[in-house]
Amino acid sequence: MTRSILILNGPNLNLLGTRQPEVYGPTTLADIEALCAAKAVDLGVEMAFTQTNHEGVLIDAIHAARGVHAGVILNAGAYTHTSVALMDAISSAMVPVVELHLSNIHARETFRHQSFIAPVAIGQICGFGAAGYPLAMDALVTYLGEPQ
Ligand code: DQA
Repeated sequence: MTRSILILNGPNLNLLGTRQPEVYGPTTLADIEALCAAKAVDLGVEMAFTQTNHEGVLIDAIHAARGVHAGVILNAGAYTHTSVALMDAISSAMVPVVELHLSNIHARETFRHQSFIAPVAIGQICGFGAAGYPLAMDALVTYLGEPQ
């Protein structure tokens, strides 16, 4: 059976392309989805790609990923820095999560240096713009190893 990975995008990422392009780049979320779809073909995995502005919907998606997706790539947007509930969802769901950000959150405002996702993620990729998405897919597939 082909392995599936879920790419989950949080609040305001639907506005990529027009949202602070000096920080997040000119690429739209649709462009990123196309980039990820091509990478999924290269890696021989299936991919689901989604975006929501709602914290509870992100939590529901992480719960639902268990047993369906082999792993999750999560750009939680600003919920990264605020959401204990999202951290708890990741701890409880028992599905590996790669934390992803377009920008280098460690080089930005102090409040962005704290991530509630980092302690429960298998790793973090940030600062590479849209290119971080295929990098995160490589990282997750490498982490997962050969299908059982
Ligand atoms: C972000 C970084 C967050 O601090 C910010 O709130 C976002 C986007 C990124 O991809 O760089 O919405 O997750």
